[in-house]
Amino acid sequence: MIAPIERTLAGLRAQTARWRKAGETIGVVPTMGALHQGHLSLARAARAACDRVIVTIFVNPRQFNNPDDLENYPRTEVDDARKLETTGVDLIYVPEPDQIYPGGFATNVSVHGLTDMLCGAHRPGHFDGVATVVSKLFLQTGADQAFFGEKDYQQLQIVRRVAADLDIPVAIVGCPTIREEDGLAMSSRNLLLSDRSRVYAPVLAEVMGDMRDQLLAGAAMAAIVGDAQARLLAAGFHTIDYLELRDGADLSLLDRTTPGARLFAAAWLAGVRLIDNIAI
Ligand code: PAJ
Repeated sequence: MIAPIERTLAGLRAQTARWRKAGETIGVVPTMGALHQGHLSLARAARAACDRVIVTIFVNPRQFNNPDDLENYPRTEVDDARKLETTGVDLIYVPEPDQIYPGGFATNVSVHGLTDMLCGAHRPGHFDGVATVVSKLFLQTGADQAFFGEKDYQQLQIVRRVAADLDIPVAIVGCPTIREEDGLAMSSRNLLLSDRSRVYAPVLAEVMGDMRDQLLAGAAMAAIVGDAQARLLAAGFHTIDYLELRDGADLSLLDRTTPGARLFAAAWLAGVRLIDNIAI
């Protein structure tokens, strides 16, 4: 059965109030739509952990630092609702923009430190937009648990910080990155890749996997990053925003691997920005 779609905060609250009254727990999976197996894995994790599951679909204008990116972002609501059928979610919340940002909206949730590096350094304002919208979605849904992908690892750490700092009573659950068979991390942005670019996109994960082997063998980043960048450029990536080894908790920069270290990358392929990260 296709889950009902709710477009207003009042309607959402009426439904969650009924669930609460029945003593049911609520899980939320925030998304921007164009759903793929990565999103569906979060919905399934929520399904397994909570009595009721809400998937939210909202292309959040405040987290786009580039107007073209916002305009080109894939919007596939009918397909999304159909895909969610297999996961048994209870409600799809697709708020109209004024349900999230009513006239006069003037509040910004801004996280310091964790947002300075990686995507934060290349996308000014992006994580303020994310922190603001997830705060709203937590408060609007009143969810007990919220499910996020490790695919956006920096976002996951920032969201954990927001919930802790603002005493929002939601447990943040991180879920593993789902990949295509050739290793490419699933992403709504992959839809924007041309057939030709799609062939080269998996080189990002391939190069990162080889770097992991080298790091585990004791290599320093300084010794291997040049070759890795050259391989990406040879495969057609034209700009490498970052390719860095960082601590998985506080995201501080590392040169050699330590327990909990992760490798992070963001690179552009024919105008599409791809990101990935793996545990070392
Ligand atoms: P979106 O890119 O749609 O991603 C929604 C959720 O799906 C995020 O938690 C993301 O990490 C997760 N996800 C994406 N690709 C994945 C993959 N291959 N494997 C596992 N999980 C994956 O991230 C956002 O939207 C927005 O910033 C949002 C949190 C909804 C706030 O607007």
